[in-house]
Amino acid sequence: MQTQLVNITSEALAQAGALIRSGELVAFPTETVYGLGANALDAAAVKRIFEAKGRPGDNPLIVHISHLDQLAPLIAVKPSPMARALMDACWPGPMTLIFPKSEAVPMAVTAGLDTVAVRFPAHPAARALIDAARRPIAAPSANRSGRPSPTTAQHVLEDMDGRIPLILDGGACDVGLESTVIDVTGDIPRILRPGGVTPERIAAICGGVRVDDAVMRPLREGEKPRSPGMKYRHYAPRGQLTIVQGESDAVTQRINELYDAAIERGQSPLILALDPHLPAYAPRRALSLGPDAAGMAHALFNALRDADALGADVLFSEAVPADGVGLAVMNRLGRAAAFHIIEV
Ligand code: TXA
Ligand code: MG
Repeated sequence: MQTQLVNITSEALAQAGALIRSGELVAFPTETVYGLGANALDAAAVKRIFEAKGRPGDNPLIVHISHLDQLAPLIAVKPSPMARALMDACWPGPMTLIFPKSEAVPMAVTAGLDTVAVRFPAHPAARALIDAARRPIAAPSANRSGRPSPTTAQHVLEDMDGRIPLILDGGACDVGLESTVIDVTGDIPRILRPGGVTPERIAAICGGVRVDDAVMRPLREGEKPRSPGMKYRHYAPRGQLTIVQGESDAVTQRINELYDAAIERGQSPLILALDPHLPAYAPRRALSLGPDAAGMAHALFNALRDADALGADVLFSEAVPADGVGLAVMNRLGRAAAFHIIEV
């Protein structure tokens, strides 16, 4: 199959909408990461997503809508007051809510679960695509399973060339990390995956929040997670990643020691660091993670892909405090490192 990469024009959107209606896949930009979309109401189309990504069949997809009136047909009961408050405050935006599913949603989308994840994205091209398709669109991140999520159309092409007919190129994504996934089926909102909508913000809207305790640790042997995505080693670069956490000077010193020891062993190490600290690693090889936690959200997946392109076989990364958007950053970094974290 030939993969076309096109700029977003009204012709391109009409072509993309027709592809979705005919059961094909289209990759498209959102404000978080690029998605790989299919008609959410067509089980055969949805199965193609799993094939193109090499995604395990038990990991459910998010259904994307472009108008609030598309929600009711997807869910079994009315949104609770808590869910309504979150929708009013954070949609359209980088937030996904888990509801009891209706009969209309194929089991292929929810991987057999009786709940469905729904997101109303803010990105105009994502919404225009859903409008053009005239159907809700099921879309995971548009990477091959296990690879860092794509934040540019180039990343999508690297992973999906020859596997899908069309990529809509909307430039680099704003947030750079996937949406916050919140289970709203209980009494208080439970964060299953942290993202751009922070726990602090959710608590302010709902008067309380729980962060699922599997967010910042590996799953235990045989543990059944509330979100199947927690099971899989995500976002992994090819090199082995270690996070070094602690007071800034101690972190720099330890990373430099680890780097020098890797060179001694004949390895090809790489440092991932915040901008203000980069000079302290010279003349060693280091990539920028941006100025702060929000910058790191934006830069992280790109840096992990660059690390692969540079052929790094061991990586050492600085950490950021796990509050605000820093929780999402540390969740992704932690998973990429298989939670290999050194405290100094
Ligand atoms: O920002 C995003 O959310 C992007 C863009 C494309 O919208 N999408 C995305 O999809 O990150 P994906 O498939 O890479 O991640 C979906 C996550 C997985 O961790 C999955 O396990 C979880 O959402 N999920 C989906 N449906 C669920 C459900 N019914 N219950 C619990 N977790 C669910
Ligand atoms: Mg993903």
